[in-house]
Amino acid sequence: MPKVKKNAIAEKIVSKKAIKKMRIEKPKDEPLVLQTLRGMKDILPEDQAYWEQVRRVSERLARDYGFSRIDVPLLEFANLFTRNIGGGTDIVEKEMYAFVTRGGDKVALRPEMTAGICRSFIQHGMHTLAKPVKLFSIGPVYRYDRPQEGRYREHYQANFDAFGEDDPILDAQIIQMAHRLAHCLGLRAIQIQVNSIGCAVCKKDYNNLLVNYLESKKTKLCQDCKRRLEINPLRVLDCKEDKCSQVAATAPQAVDHLCDDCRVHFKTLLEYLDELDLPYTINPRLVRGLDYYTKTVFEIWSGSEEGKKASLGGGGRYDKLIKMMGGEDTPAIGFAIGVERMIFEMKRVQAKSYKPMKPRVFLAQLGSLAKKKSLRLFSDLEKNGILTAESFGRGSLKSQLKIANRLGVELTLILGQKETLDGTVIIKNMTTGVQETVSMERLVDIIKKKLKTDNVVIYHNHDHDELIG
Ligand code: HAM
Repeated sequence: MPKVKKNAIAEKIVSKKAIKKMRIEKPKDEPLVLQTLRGMKDILPEDQAYWEQVRRVSERLARDYGFSRIDVPLLEFANLFTRNIGGGTDIVEKEMYAFVTRGGDKVALRPEMTAGICRSFIQHGMHTLAKPVKLFSIGPVYRYDRPQEGRYREHYQANFDAFGEDDPILDAQIIQMAHRLAHCLGLRAIQIQVNSIGCAVCKKDYNNLLVNYLESKKTKLCQDCKRRLEINPLRVLDCKEDKCSQVAATAPQAVDHLCDDCRVHFKTLLEYLDELDLPYTINPRLVRGLDYYTKTVFEIWSGSEEGKKASLGGGGRYDKLIKMMGGEDTPAIGFAIGVERMIFEMKRVQAKSYKPMKPRVFLAQLGSLAKKKSLRLFSDLEKNGILTAESFGRGSLKSQLKIANRLGVELTLILGQKETLDGTVIIKNMTTGVQETVSMERLVDIIKKKLKTDNVVIYHNHDHDELIG
């Protein structure tokens, strides 16, 4: 039997089996829910200009600060996250989308990017590259959180991680970059919060001190924090419950119990931040929601007074994570911004209104010959960067002009049988109604002139300088 036929039969068998399985798993009477899952959303066309702006600014800054793009899978072995983000963190305890595959692998949708990027760093031997190795990524992450404003179950992060440098100058540069990112997106009233939670050595001593203190206040803690006290006491400082915040307010502070090395590191960092004139405050209770951090931690916040505040981004050092995962001892630092929160803030402060680009020209055609030619003409206009709308599927000129009117274009190009044979096009000014016939060869130049060359919507944007405000 020829190979192709055999394969075709195999495919049939597979698909029959698959269909049978689907029938078992999806009872026919299960209603189709035409809704996104809770905590997830569509990014609709009208919002895309904002998303595009965040992507462009992030990519531009990544390039300028020497970061290379990396993309890692959304799905990884679940223990990559449980072991490295840490037991006792909300992310691991309550928020993982974890499941067992048909093959029996325990996997999870990434609740953040750093663990996957570290896995990739080790897997691909990136420690041999010139240091620091700077990696940038942008994409969705998943946390089974309680959805509310600014808190989603699927959200996007732009994530920056730098490996192989423990000098605090890199901490300062990373914080400056986070600030610059917000600034370039039009957010001017940004506050930076910094703290140092110490290295593996002083973190341990501080932990003991904190446990003693918290034990003495145990009755005042929420149920979750009573448990946290046993497995991860630092998390109590992060608890949003009022009564726990009150206990945290008088707790011993990590910055007062740093070892010499960590103290000098933090002090030098603050000097660099002063030098850069960055608007920072030291928040001694900033511990972050992931366990891998050592020394520097930071968050950026919008400076808004009214409404509920939310951090726009955050990060810090994680000098021991790569080693803990089985790689070479490699210090590292990074941060991520939440794209949705940035966009929310851009809209709130009306930094600039981002709208999808609107075509200013409409191309109408009449008759089968003109229809054929108009496809080529559309492509010529596109190549010249003139954003043009059309409605090739419609036959009558009246219905096409109606669409042109609705779109609010300035010029409509009309290509009929006669014009096609003559090698001409009619240009109709949609405001005055005046029409003129011009030769096909000169069309592009004439349109550019009519739209006042510098106003023409040139969407092949080679120069991104205007991004940086
Ligand atoms: P993170 O603070 O958990 O850090 O998340 C980074 C940012 O993502 C937050 O500042 C916030 O803007 C946004 N974000 C977090 N959770 C949600 C949510 N449920 N809905 C909407 N936005 C959210 C990390 O994930 C670290 N991996 C950052 C990092 C990179 N540290 C070192 N390198």
